[in-house]
Amino acid sequence: MKDTATTVMERCELLGNISEEPGILVRPYGSQAMREANNIVSGWMRAAGMTTRQDEIGNLIGRYEGSGDRTLILGSHLDTVRDAGKYDGILGVMVALACIQQLHNRGEQLPFSIELVAFADEEGLRFGTTFLGSSAYAGAFDKSRLALEDQNGVTLSQAVRTFGGDPDALEGDGRGNGDLLGYCEVHMEQGPVLEQRDLPLGVVSAINGQSRVRVGFVGKAGHAGTVPMEGRQDALCAAAEFVLEVESAARAEPGAVATVGEISALPGAVNVIPGEARHSLDLRHPDDAARERLRDHLERRAAEIAASRGCEHEWQLRQETPAVPTDSDLSELLGRAVEESGATVRRLPSGAGHDAAQISALTPVAMLFVRCKEGISHNPAESVRSEDVGVAIDVMSRFLTLLAQGAGSHSETSQEASP
Ligand code: GLV
Ligand code: MN
Ligand code: MN
Repeated sequence: MKDTATTVMERCELLGNISEEPGILVRPYGSQAMREANNIVSGWMRAAGMTTRQDEIGNLIGRYEGSGDRTLILGSHLDTVRDAGKYDGILGVMVALACIQQLHNRGEQLPFSIELVAFADEEGLRFGTTFLGSSAYAGAFDKSRLALEDQNGVTLSQAVRTFGGDPDALEGDGRGNGDLLGYCEVHMEQGPVLEQRDLPLGVVSAINGQSRVRVGFVGKAGHAGTVPMEGRQDALCAAAEFVLEVESAARAEPGAVATVGEISALPGAVNVIPGEARHSLDLRHPDDAARERLRDHLERRAAEIAASRGCEHEWQLRQETPAVPTDSDLSELLGRAVEESGATVRRLPSGAGHDAAQISALTPVAMLFVRCKEGISHNPAESVRSEDVGVAIDVMSRFLTLLAQGAGSHSETSQEASP
């Protein structure tokens, strides 16, 4: 019989072909590709003994009944960035599914139920936000986001409806936490630490906070051949100066990372001075006060740069999430499961955002990282080893058993310094 790690790898491969565009993987929130992915995964969930439903925002939820009243949540996301790899998010859902499939194959019922959630939007590709899925599930959906528009002018409200949900019901669609034991998410590391240490897995200590801003510069469009260089109000030049300011300011703040990943210039013709430039800004730091200081500094600098070039500027703070420590008890249990599997326990912080950050408002969270090749992620070259996936399945199964036994004694873990 095929081993479970091979099945997980094959499923990641299959889902890696469910895309909005041929030739690359791009699966944004509310897309046809997302619908197809949810359909396929719900079939796998049912085959693993789960009942399934889709909530208002479009999260796919599978439930494996236990004998007691409590519930453990497992999960990660099925949406992707543009030109994505096959494992970011998807791996976590597939590993959890494999563990539940094993329970089902053995006819085993745990003393708690498991709810496996495939979140509908973690990346925020379509609306420039993150965590639409997990924030709704956690009961923390921000209604003001419903007016956000995608690049085609479709509002989030319309997108929710098209995907089968009711935008007016989102605020009240959060899951209550009365029965919850906690949440555990498996995710590829997306960084180089585990590979450098020659370790298959790591236990996450904290998730860095982040700010996402939509920045605009508005100048004056004009003829590229006739308007002298002196006195131009070139919006793209203002944005360019600001982008380099983002780089130098982040370098000057230890622990910070800041990225302008998407930019557009309008009207967008070879012989027209850009009258408008709009871009994203993604800012992260393990310390919230440092991130806010950097954010405020950059807002001031955007205003100064715009003024010095005769341009206006716009600053729309689209989203902020604070840094989130993981739960010490659940993380220690996860550490024990790693030890029992024969691997060394390494704790490390996450520079990437994760659904676990939102779910921490609902219930204690823990995360298990799986080593990836050269730390590459948000790139089609993402790669994880089948052997490491096998260890992750083993560790998660042991974690479920320890939780079922009500185990909670402490294990020795070594601490990785923050990057
Ligand atoms: C999600 O992958 C993020 O950290 O942007
Ligand atoms: Mn990602
Ligand atoms: Mn992810």
